[in-house]
Amino acid sequence: MTVLLLAGTSEAAEVASGLAKAGIAAVASLAGPNRAPVPTEIPTRVGGFGGEAGFRAYVKDAGITAVIDATHPFANRITDRTAAICTDLGLPYLHVLRPPWRPQDGDNWTEIAREEDAAALVPQGDTVFLGTGRQTLNRFSGLEGRRVICRLIAPPTAPFPFEGGEFLLGLPPFPVGREVSLFTQLGIDWIIVKNAGGEASATKLTAARRLGIPVLMLTRPPVPIALRVETAAEAVAWAATL
Ligand SMILES: NC(=O)c1ccc[n+]([C@@H]2O[C@H](COP(=O)([O-])OP(=O)(O)OC[C@H]3O[C@@H](n4cnc5c(N)ncnc54)[C@H](OP(=O)(O)O)[C@@H]3O)[C@@H](O)[C@H]2O)c1
Repeated sequence: MTVLLLAGTSEAAEVASGLAKAGIAAVASLAGPNRAPVPTEIPTRVGGFGGEAGFRAYVKDAGITAVIDATHPFANRITDRTAAICTDLGLPYLHVLRPPWRPQDGDNWTEIAREEDAAALVPQGDTVFLGTGRQTLNRFSGLEGRRVICRLIAPPTAPFPFEGGEFLLGLPPFPVGREVSLFTQLGIDWIIVKNAGGEASATKLTAARRLGIPVLMLTRPPVPIALRVETAAEAVAWAATL
């Protein structure tokens, strides 16, 4: 038996460690460099598979007998595709998905389904902090006319895609106190984030609550019908039953 662990989150690193400790043969796969801890206790491959055909070929060649998908909650293309292929091949598939953030007392959130929805809610001239990464930045181009500050963890590889935008480099962790100082110093009026869930990146939401800054919360993409757990421990326990 060899489990393929689709990684890229802190839960994936925990699953890798749990599989190694349980003596379950597994290989991890990362799309590329990202901010989550990298699995270190099982062999790891890096890079896309080359589309659906490439993934099917990989599974066959590597003798994969089950898949644990612990990718990011917004990495829905890999999740949808993998769930469908596993169903087709009759391969056991488990999706590890951490719970989303929920608003608490003192939060002022507006949920939006698409990046493009932000423009109708943020007045001209306001200052916006974008914690949504570079991949979907051009979808915020309707925010032209506002000061838009997009935080990245690695230097940008392309210019900001619209007028009024700027990149801000920052390396995690981002403790609450540091986020409060940053938002105050930059005069942030709005924060836009994806509902990734998890503790590590929730500090900006705590800072927003303390400062009374409204948050536009991008809701998660739909998930495929599949067996699903919330924690790494549950995923390791599932693998042990195979
Ligand atoms: N905060 C974070 O650290 C973080 C990390 C990852 C993603 N995200 C969020 O997720 C969104 C989409 O991310 P995404 O591009 O990774 O996912 P995606 O859109 O679902 O996947 C796009 C392609 O990336 C490759 N891929 C994704 N995960 C892989 C894995 N574990 N191993 C090998 N290849 C993988 C696949 O390429 P092939 O078709 O070539 O196989 C897949 O078709 C981003 O906009 C971001 O919001 C956030």
